[in-house]
Amino acid sequence: MEAAHVLVFPVPVQGHINAMLPFAAALLDAGAHVTFLHTDHNLRRVGRAASVASSPRLRFLSIPDGLPDDSRRSVGDLGELDRSLREVGSVRYRALFASLLSAGSPNRAGADDEHRFPPLTCVVADGLMPWAIDIAEELGVPALAFRTSSACSFLAFMSAPGLFELGDLPFPAGGDLDEPVRGVPGMESFLRRRDLPSSFRRRGDTDDVDPSLHVVAKASAHCGKARALVLNTAASLERSALAHIAPRMRDLFSIGPLHAMSPALAASCSLWREDDGCLAWLDGQADRSVVYVSLGSFTVISREQFKEFLSGIAATGYPFLWVLRPDMVWASQDGVLHEAAMAAAGDGKARIVAWAPQRDVLRHRAVGCFLTHAGWNSTLEAVVEGVPMVCWPFFADQHVNSRFVGAVWRNGLDMKDVCERGVVERTVREAMESDEIRRAAQALAQLVKRDVAAGGSSATELERLVGFIRELSA
Ligand code: UDX
Repeated sequence: MEAAHVLVFPVPVQGHINAMLPFAAALLDAGAHVTFLHTDHNLRRVGRAASVASSPRLRFLSIPDGLPDDSRRSVGDLGELDRSLREVGSVRYRALFASLLSAGSPNRAGADDEHRFPPLTCVVADGLMPWAIDIAEELGVPALAFRTSSACSFLAFMSAPGLFELGDLPFPAGGDLDEPVRGVPGMESFLRRRDLPSSFRRRGDTDDVDPSLHVVAKASAHCGKARALVLNTAASLERSALAHIAPRMRDLFSIGPLHAMSPALAASCSLWREDDGCLAWLDGQADRSVVYVSLGSFTVISREQFKEFLSGIAATGYPFLWVLRPDMVWASQDGVLHEAAMAAAGDGKARIVAWAPQRDVLRHRAVGCFLTHAGWNSTLEAVVEGVPMVCWPFFADQHVNSRFVGAVWRNGLDMKDVCERGVVERTVREAMESDEIRRAAQALAQLVKRDVAAGGSSATELERLVGFIRELSA
């Protein structure tokens, strides 16, 4: 596939980069040239990684996202970033094609003597940016959509227009959130209203939902126009959802968990500096004794929620490692929460970091359970390591993911909608101590490892996808 030159373009936030970077690595392994497109802001943040691009067939380029440098960007809300990318970033994205379509562009701007790239032959763009797919096709380059969420949530968002037609959406304010949801195929027996994000509920006094639901539902349907949809998931996790999505796409490839296939490159694009010291701290803890707490890259909690989590976790008596990003708790003062957490835990029983090497943490023998927001990357990372989960979903695909954890895979517990110290204590204790949950988590890990191993369903799908891109590039 030397002649194939693929542009890989994620939504510029950590969770999407983390999913699409190992995909770029898989394309490199197959012999393709890969241009990985960041925003200027993010490329500055991951500069270290960009400078150690491991192959002359890989390069990192960037376009502006159109936001001022001091903008909070994604934290808590993707709307502003999405709008700005569409209005400003898309203009520069279109302009970039002129240089990418000409043969022999150098692998770094201004580096004329370096390895040269063939003309661009294919685009794999984040399915949440339909404009990136349309512009590529308009300029004559075939485009595939990549969605970084679970298949089950993708299917739920695709089903939203049908739920409106049934008259079931928006879910009424104050209505019973334990009501079953009809109209999301294959999930009728266990999906409740509370298992869909709050954007499915009536917004304030209006008759409608949060506009983000319409945006995501439309983007999901739009994936059907791309040459194919690529999902970072495995058949053993989401066979039924995949079967329901496939007929609505031109082609569908489920090739995950990608981080378990191409681990090396995946480690190298953190937007925050990882605090490796927590691994040495874990070395000093007993096997399966530590609660690892991380709510991903853009969950924001209130001070009250922080206190409930902290009191509940500390009351279990287990040592804990907590990722407390500086921008994670509303109106917090630097250092105050950190001190509160250390004091609540008692001497040496807690470690607080701003950002952890999460995959290494989850692989560590000392970790007993993972209190998570059930972001799809975090979910896949816990599943691969067989670590029991306690889920407190925040938004997007996380409510559906956590329902699958608690009621379908049973590799953890779903604490959604409740953030109360007694419940936190009880749930974390159960996840740490239940043999049944641990056994289910380990069995699931084995199934998924089989999917990614040679001859497994994800590995076979990845080979098929490489062939598909090769043909598009010929
Ligand atoms: C979001 C959505 O939640 C997710 O469901 C979607 O599909 C992708 O974008 P995010 O909320 O950040 O991402 O969560 P998650 O998907 O779990 O991604 C977080 C990533 O950051 C994971 O790969 C995790 O390993 C990494 N991480 C997190 C670290 O490396 N260190 C940390 O301290 C915390």
